Amino acid sequence: MPTGAVIEFTNITKTFGHVNAVNDLSFTVEPGRVTGFLGPNGAGKTTTLRMLLGLVAPTSGTATFGGIRYRDLPQPLSTVGAALEAASFHPGRTARNHLGIYAIAAGLPAERVTDVLRKVGLADYADRRVGGYSLGMRQRLGLAYAMIGDPGVLVLDEPINGLDPKGIKWIRGFLRDMAAEGRTVLVSSHLLSEVQQSVDEVVIIAKGSLAHRGTLASLDTDTAPQVIVDGPDRDALSDALTAAGVTFSIGRTGLLAAEPDPARIGHIAFSAGVEISVLHRQKSGLEDSFLALVGGGDSL
Ligand SMILES: Nc1ncnc2c1ncn2[C@@H]1O[C@H](COP(=O)(O)OP(=O)(O)O)[C@@H](O)[C@H]1O
Ligand SMILES: [Mg+2]
Repeated sequence: MPTGAVIEFTNITKTFGHVNAVNDLSFTVEPGRVTGFLGPNGAGKTTTLRMLLGLVAPTSGTATFGGIRYRDLPQPLSTVGAALEAASFHPGRTARNHLGIYAIAAGLPAERVTDVLRKVGLADYADRRVGGYSLGMRQRLGLAYAMIGDPGVLVLDEPINGLDPKGIKWIRGFLRDMAAEGRTVLVSSHLLSEVQQSVDEVVIIAKGSLAHRGTLASLDTDTAPQVIVDGPDRDALSDALTAAGVTFSIGRTGLLAAEPDPARIGHIAFSAGVEISVLHRQKSGLEDSFLALVGGGDSL
């Protein structure tokens, strides 16, 4: 079973001319979980990942796998698998051919090609030319590349971008499985909603700087959970809540009661003989927290 190394960024900084793309970032990424690396377009995610993989030289700071820089890893392909944005494949060659050449160059057994194609769900398309692949299939081929050396660490830049709902569901399961096998999984996205269902930890950057890091739940700054309740006679419902000592505000979709337990609100309404049409706990405020952290959304 592969064991992932800890990824560690220490005060990493990158300036392009006068553009401060990445600014003094420090964080670690642990094995056995999926870590979402989030931020709007232009936040510095790709630049950070390229520095991690030794493709861009940092202006200052370091990025390491188990304390070792990428270029100093004794067996890079079996330590780290990466799929960066806009991977390009020759349209006239097949998936099997692409991966086969790579396997030979890396000194890996030829069976690995079949293994990884099966793993990413491309086994039935292995002998088709990549030119006819959908974007989702190309994303899967990128993942097959990343997996070929059976690495303990996966670094994936926006792997969900452009996938259809079926592809999104598949990749969520894939990320979870990879982490459950003990790998370190770092996956970037400009949309929290894309990765929300598969990440355990989040690292959020905005304008090159760290905005937040912690568990996914830590993002939910909504400290006082609320229940949304509504009914045909809002006045009667309001009176019942007031009489029971529950404070509330009027929201878009009903009354927002300052009470965490929907059952209690239901009981209050029932006891007062007030009909209700809506009763549920307020949805997580994750997306709102995310947007607040990154300064109100995408630049694109
Ligand atoms: N090679 C480069 N030369 C100049 N500026 C760059 C280069 N690469 C990225 N940048 C700039 O660095 C910032 C961060 O870009 P990037 O890392 O691609 O962000 P993200 O992946 O979060 O969208 C942007 O302002 C971008 O224009
Ligand atoms: Mg990017």
